Amino acid sequence: MLNIVVIGCGYVGLPSGFAFASFGHNVTFIEKDTKKLDDLKNGKMPIYEPKLDDLFSKNKKNIAFIEKFSDITDPKVIDIYVIAVGTPTLNDCQNADLSYVFKAVDEIASIAHNNAIVITKSTVPVGTNAKIKEKIPHLTVVSSPEFLREGSAVDDFLYPDRVVIGCDSLEFDKSKLINLYGGILSEKIVFMDTKGAELVKYASNTFLAAKIAFANEISRFCDKEGIFSQGVLKAVGMDKRIGDKFLNPGPGFGGSCFPKDIDAMEYQVEQSGLDLKIIKNIKKSNDDQKKFVLDKIEDELKNKNAKNIALLGLAFKANTSDIRCSIAIDVVKKLTDNKNITITAYDPEAMDEMRHLIGSDRVKYSDNAKDCIKDARIVVVLTEWAEFHEIKWSSLPDCKIVLDFRNICNKNEIINNKIEYYHL
Ligand SMILES: NC(=O)c1ccc[n+]([C@@H]2O[C@H](COP(=O)([O-])OP(=O)(O)OC[C@H]3O[C@@H](n4cnc5c(N)ncnc54)[C@H](O)[C@@H]3O)[C@@H](O)[C@H]2O)c1
Repeated sequence: MLNIVVIGCGYVGLPSGFAFASFGHNVTFIEKDTKKLDDLKNGKMPIYEPKLDDLFSKNKKNIAFIEKFSDITDPKVIDIYVIAVGTPTLNDCQNADLSYVFKAVDEIASIAHNNAIVITKSTVPVGTNAKIKEKIPHLTVVSSPEFLREGSAVDDFLYPDRVVIGCDSLEFDKSKLINLYGGILSEKIVFMDTKGAELVKYASNTFLAAKIAFANEISRFCDKEGIFSQGVLKAVGMDKRIGDKFLNPGPGFGGSCFPKDIDAMEYQVEQSGLDLKIIKNIKKSNDDQKKFVLDKIEDELKNKNAKNIALLGLAFKANTSDIRCSIAIDVVKKLTDNKNITITAYDPEAMDEMRHLIGSDRVKYSDNAKDCIKDARIVVVLTEWAEFHEIKWSSLPDCKIVLDFRNICNKNEIINNKIEYYHL
């Protein structure tokens, strides 16, 4: 049993820390956001993530929440500090903002004893863990980037494809890390140096983002040529060398990871003096897809002389409440420029986040999909929530077209109700 401190109660910190508790370790979380902290102390999850509540309930005897490092009662017993704070894009350049990471490092340095291990789970550019080590030379520094996905974070953490552990110290005792990840098969654990570990995370996300961008480019070509893109991409993905994952056309990738990680990867490549053309163009390709979606909505507003538009889905993907870099934000911002349009929106989990960001002046939020679409002339589907497949499209006399940018709706139902159906 290890005593672990996790810094940051976000989409990565919470599932990781609860999973460590489920392996039998004692986990203390530090969270500076007092609203989140109060929720957690009251047993309420500050984010929507399937299975998170359950993982917490089953292991809460091993879990504590505190606000600051000075609340740690006995730093001498802490074996491992796990940094899981945000690394957003800096305002003035594409690189990652490491201020939260280094603030956490300073705080760890002020209390940790010499045998403690510091693990960076946050996604950080190549060379960051070496800089962390310069600040805390007396501690063991480990890079163990996280690969979980929002929406399936608990299962992703408990049953990962691999766990990457990077350390530059020759005396590094691997057994402690194997013990930390106690519930995970040791053959899934890959050891390397910190730079390699940092790059595995960026290389993985860059590849996945490139695959999505590629599927979207093929889909745009299909749209122009009148070809059924889903059929094409399905057949492409049946080739085992390619695989069917991440080949679904959509409105462009968003979320808290891909956009910022591709930015940071591009920046790192640029700083290295290399001119790597694939990496350089992924974000541009994604921006083109988003523009394609926005232009299509605008064209249909004109074509259908629409005054009412319904948006189904606000989260950047299904099964999360996260709206960071969601295409829905671009769509809402663009639509709110037009004062003659009434915008109604529904998302099963992400409406509070959108209300908080955009307000309620220009967007009406519905309690369910049925209410959201009832007066709409155009319905736009932006997130692939499974419940959107079940929508009944009858009794919608005003509805002229469904723009399904996630290919999730029941096409036959829509067409049978004399509504035009557009998909990617
Ligand atoms: N979200 C994902 O799906 C995902 C997946 C893999 C990796 N990552 C990486 O993990 C890191 C965390 O991402 P996230 O989505 O969990 O971020 P998040 O914004 O959801 O959570 C970060 C939390 O850390 C807290 N925090 C920041 N500084 C703190 C400090 N000094 N003391 C205490 N609390 C502090 C913030 O208040 C916030 O609650 C990022 O580097 C991200 O790139 C994210």
